[in-house]
Amino acid sequence: MNPREFSRRRRHLMESIGAGGIAVVPAAPLRTRSRDTTYSYRQDSDFHYLTGFPEPDAVAVLVPGRAQGQYLLFCRDRDPAKEQWDGARAGPDGAVEQYGADDAFPIDDIDEILPGLLERSERVYYSIGAPGDFDQRLLGWINALNAKRQNSHAPSELVALDHLLHEARLFKSRAETATMRRAARIAVAAHRRAMRACRPGMMEYELEAEYLHEFRRHGAVCSYTPIVAGGANACVLHYTANDAQLADGDLVLVDAGCEHAMYASDVTRTFPVNGRFTERQREIYDVVLDANRAAVAAATPGNHWNDPHDAAVKEVTRGLRSLGVLSGRLPTLIKDLAYRRYFMHKTGHWLGMDVHDVGDYKVADEWRLLEPGMVMTIEPGIYVAANARGAARHWRGIGVRIEDDVVVTRDGAELLTEGLPATPEEIERCMSGPA
Ligand code: GLY
Ligand code: MN
Ligand code: MN
Repeated sequence: MNPREFSRRRRHLMESIGAGGIAVVPAAPLRTRSRDTTYSYRQDSDFHYLTGFPEPDAVAVLVPGRAQGQYLLFCRDRDPAKEQWDGARAGPDGAVEQYGADDAFPIDDIDEILPGLLERSERVYYSIGAPGDFDQRLLGWINALNAKRQNSHAPSELVALDHLLHEARLFKSRAETATMRRAARIAVAAHRRAMRACRPGMMEYELEAEYLHEFRRHGAVCSYTPIVAGGANACVLHYTANDAQLADGDLVLVDAGCEHAMYASDVTRTFPVNGRFTERQREIYDVVLDANRAAVAAATPGNHWNDPHDAAVKEVTRGLRSLGVLSGRLPTLIKDLAYRRYFMHKTGHWLGMDVHDVGDYKVADEWRLLEPGMVMTIEPGIYVAANARGAARHWRGIGVRIEDDVVVTRDGAELLTEGLPATPEEIERCMSGPA
């Protein structure tokens, strides 16, 4: 992403903070997987949003109005011996030259330097809940200033930074939307690849491997643990074991999205293991597809956050009623939440750097209005568990979700997952193509 995008974000945040404020944002720590092996490093989304700086052991400090520089970065010093093992570090000089910091210091000097900056501020903007002990360290610095208050003025207010930052992150810029479009396209390619590769008798993890292959060959990684759920496993909403065999005649539900350049896609398709829907599967599938379509159509500016969900609920309830799974009057079934036995989650969530992205869903206790630049998933589903009492036997063990990603535009919504087979005909055609 263009460095100007990051400086624009910092400027915007500093305007909200105003003179007398200081924002402190720590980087994500490197996490141990076992003994001396670590998970691959993922920068903290808030920290990345403001800095684009890709290393752990760093703290960004924004001090609006400070004459000697407003954007300061504490980071690891250069260390040729360590860099030989773990790769290059920017060091304070690189932080200034490559990442636009006004000034930068070794992270080991933070205890000496940051308290002096805090002392000159009235309000500290910070998100409580940082991993590790950073909350305690920051509060320690502030308390130490308070203790010697007679001859210094410690900041008097600790303000939640998340609120300001997350409201900004909710609205995606043109560059962010382009990155998310790419993340969605890679996921689309992966789902197409898996549809073509799927065969009865395969293990769920073999199908998962098709996604991993496609993500990695585009430089992307999984944005969450993929769900590859054959047959009734699809009715376990967070199934991630992915170790069962895919049976002829079953559906497989795959919820797999990728992260490209720090931005996520989140995509689900449900398709027949042998390439042909049965009549029963297709009846349920068509209801979910109608719900997906109705919800996408409701994702337009001026509608409320919950309108796509309401549209999906209506279609799911109507469909389950016409299949005889639910009986009663449509408005009563909706009012009584009768659909919840089979559709027990919401129709979507914000999507961005985090899969379940930040941003409030309500403003002043009301569902917020959809506005251009907001990105969300649309993911209705119907899950009839293998032991679902009340549903006829022939529906049991069928779980279907269809999840797409949309960005709200000025006059409607753009489907970021455009081009991914969604109708039964499209899916069957894709699956009958060459592997
Ligand atoms: N993959 C997580 C979700 O669909 O919300
Ligand atoms: Mn998903
Ligand atoms: Mn989702």
